[in-house]
Amino acid sequence: MSRRLRTAILISGRGSNMDALIEAARAPDFPAEIALVVSNRPEAAGLAKAKAAGIAVAAVDHKIYAGREEFERSLQIVLETHRIEFLCLAGFMRLLTPWFIGQWRGQMLNIHPALLPSFRGLHTHERALADGVKIHGCTVHFVVPEMDEGPIVAQSAVAVLDSDTPDSLAARVLEQEHLLYPRALRLVASGVVRVEGNRVVGASASPAPALAVPSSG
Ligand code: GRF
Repeated sequence: MSRRLRTAILISGRGSNMDALIEAARAPDFPAEIALVVSNRPEAAGLAKAKAAGIAVAAVDHKIYAGREEFERSLQIVLETHRIEFLCLAGFMRLLTPWFIGQWRGQMLNIHPALLPSFRGLHTHERALADGVKIHGCTVHFVVPEMDEGPIVAQSAVAVLDSDTPDSLAARVLEQEHLLYPRALRLVASGVVRVEGNRVVGASASPAPALAVPSSG
């Protein structure tokens, strides 16, 4: 097969989406290779897991830098050293500056635990329950300077149950995240989809939404 896209995953915490991407990229026909995992928190549990999986890891501790851009310039050097071509944010809890995003425009994905454009920002599951929505889910999108905006590559929906708590809803959404992110990265890295304005088009072969509506709940 053709050369695989050298991809870095940026994390801050447990890295369960990172695990899903690493696992998917083991398939010989996967169009991206996970070449590096970077965390802004040296103690992130995901870093140790990536290392155990045989992936190169790096920590760029944001706390030792004077500002966001100083941190990002170090991060950029690490990414260039590893000849990284594409980034996946996976629970990366730092806002990125327009400078950094400009370096990676069209080459950086994020996963967000809600059906964008609903529930941008934090505490999405609590807010979904508070607003009484019946359908919730997750989104993989290209990163642009505006937080949780950018062309949407793929989404998965889950039904909200009467019995849901933020934790139970988060758990069902997370299951979908682990399926969705590898699927979205495959679509982008293989060149099956392209960005037209604010839309990602060309994924006519993508599977139907994974919405399971229970008969009672
Ligand atoms: C996920 O819910 C992701 O959507 C959000 O942060 C969480 C990260 O979880 N951006 P993990 O570190 O991938 O387990």
